[in-house]
Amino acid sequence: MSLPVLSLDEIRNQVEQCQACPLWEGRTHVVFGEGDPHARVLIVGEAPGKNEDLQGKPFVGAAGKFLDELLEAAGLKREEVFIANVLKCRPPSNRNPQAHEIQACAPFLRLQTKSIDPLVIVTMGNFATQFILKTGVGITHLRGTVQQAGKFTVLPVYHPAAAIYDRSKREVLLADFQQIGSMVRDRMAQSSDIQALD
Ligand code: URA
Repeated sequence: MSLPVLSLDEIRNQVEQCQACPLWEGRTHVVFGEGDPHARVLIVGEAPGKNEDLQGKPFVGAAGKFLDELLEAAGLKREEVFIANVLKCRPPSNRNPQAHEIQACAPFLRLQTKSIDPLVIVTMGNFATQFILKTGVGITHLRGTVQQAGKFTVLPVYHPAAAIYDRSKREVLLADFQQIGSMVRDRMAQSSDIQALD
């Protein structure tokens, strides 16, 4: 069944009332995601952590600081992308998302993707990548490759939190984001060339 195209405000209202899995009981805020509602780049993380739950915003903790550096390396500003997560509520003690939680939350990320209609989706880490690509293949194999999910180009990268524990992933992430920046600029130039022909 094809999903309707809803505005982000309509989807946010649904998320704020959601009790589809037990994570709603422990949340301070849902973390809907933020950024340009018509962003050309949708960035998808895993789930809110403690700071995100407290502030209701994605990637505001240590991983978020590094994400800001990565965006700068790509030549992108936070306000011009949209940052979302697979899960909108924080799992207790930041444990991994469980399959039933992902399934319960899945319609929201699908609706967000349809509403934003980006040119590219950057998936950070295993959970986002496996969700968007519907694959069991791990991020170590997929990072740095160009994938397709329906009409969307998907660029899988390590999760920025992984670089906090493993410094060798820092350089890999920085290089991947630089590449993402050039690819986004190429795609934007192509799509404005195509519009000019209309
Ligand atoms: N890690 C995530 O995957 N998402 C956030 O919003 C914060 C940390």
